[in-house]
Amino acid sequence: MFHLGWFTNFAPPPWEGQFSGHNGETWANGRFYQDLAQALERARFDYIMLEDSSMVSDAYEGSSRADLKHHLYAPKHDPLALVPLLAAVTTSLGIVATASTSFYPPYQLARTMTTLDHLSRGRAGWNIVTSSEDRAAQNYGRTKLQEHDGRYDRADEFVQVVDALWNSWDDGAIIQDRETGRYVDHTKVHTIDHSGEYYSVRGPLNTVPGPQRRPVICQAGGSPRGKRFAAEHADTIIAQSRGPERMKEFRDDIRRLAAEAGRDPDDIKVLFIVSPLVAASDAEAQELQASSKAQAETNVEKALAHLSALTEVDFSQFDLDAPVTQDITTNGHRTTLSEFLKLGDDGRTLREVAAGWSISAVDLVGSVESVADRMEEVMGYVGGDGFLMSGPMTRTYIGEIVDGLVPELQRRGLTRSDYLPQGATFRENLRSF
Ligand SMILES: Cc1cc2nc3c(=O)[nH]c(=O)nc-3n(C[C@H](O)[C@H](O)[C@H](O)COP(=O)(O)O)c2cc1C
Repeated sequence: MFHLGWFTNFAPPPWEGQFSGHNGETWANGRFYQDLAQALERARFDYIMLEDSSMVSDAYEGSSRADLKHHLYAPKHDPLALVPLLAAVTTSLGIVATASTSFYPPYQLARTMTTLDHLSRGRAGWNIVTSSEDRAAQNYGRTKLQEHDGRYDRADEFVQVVDALWNSWDDGAIIQDRETGRYVDHTKVHTIDHSGEYYSVRGPLNTVPGPQRRPVICQAGGSPRGKRFAAEHADTIIAQSRGPERMKEFRDDIRRLAAEAGRDPDDIKVLFIVSPLVAASDAEAQELQASSKAQAETNVEKALAHLSALTEVDFSQFDLDAPVTQDITTNGHRTTLSEFLKLGDDGRTLREVAAGWSISAVDLVGSVESVADRMEEVMGYVGGDGFLMSGPMTRTYIGEIVDGLVPELQRRGLTRSDYLPQGATFRENLRSF
């Protein structure tokens, strides 16, 4: 069996297509995402994961035009605020929201996550990111983001602080003793007195420990330093390695690093990003893929503006009809950039590579039976642990996956047909196989 997650954000879903109507409702009130969460729970997904960033990008052409025209990085609303709305309409789905160690103070993050863990009855997850953009840093009083590996050093200390805060209340601290009139036993609540390179935090936290105490930790770093960080702290890792060999290599690497850090590798679930395209038959799915490729060729700008935002490299400066320049570096999303550049290894032009750019680990195109076959085969080869769905956020697409593909996976016993009994936490569900 393998796990399923759904990768999205709190941003506008596609709006131009024939079936992209949302009954005149705005996505911004969260209702669309509540419907999505319920659909994912119906299909027994382990979690929904909400990515985030904190800026309007002007990396492409030095202007926010392309970012805003194609709503790539903005608008994007705060995913943490969406968590209780999703929790209110579901019972077992894990809900992961992104928050950056470069911008949040650890005390505030620990407090908010604990509050969300209560509100979701033990289903909160935190996607730890270090952020990738100077433009975001400039919204928090800095001119530049810290250097790539240094950001992870800071994140290590951040995690040390929030872990200490989450443990600053012992079990049994709440006594509610009517006889003595004591609500909390103060001897079970401790300061943490952290004083480190980046943070100075006294503690204790002023919140009661959540059902999970420590929320589920999700991470996505794919660089060597990012992988080490993830292997040390994460419960689930979202990965974008391309092809079964590199997927297996990535997972083996994480498991080795986890063991080196003294952890049980089975406590980490590595989910690989995929965007399955399913239709009534293989031929129909291939036709749909061909037409979406043709569409992408007319919109190379969208792909390059997105990549520019992720890397803060202005891709409008390069000749579209020349081979992809290979010596590009970034202080932002290193893995995404190197995966993109690899696609141009064979001498294809920037236009061709941008038109075909996808972060899907493997191509999954066909009938639900063919796609399920391929998913089974790939997971068998990789060794586990699951897939993270990422595709167009239309109700049609969500239905195809949730009510088309997943029932076929369940029928084969490849994905879960139920959660643990209600009341089990997100982490317990994640570790149940
Ligand atoms: C699937 C995926 C999702 C990510 N989501 C976010 C996100 O929501 N916010 C963010 O700032 N970075 C996000 N990142 C970036 C990573 O967290 C990480 O900061 C980035 O990949 C740079 O680290 P690396 O060089 O170790 O890969 C994501 C990366 C991947 C692959």
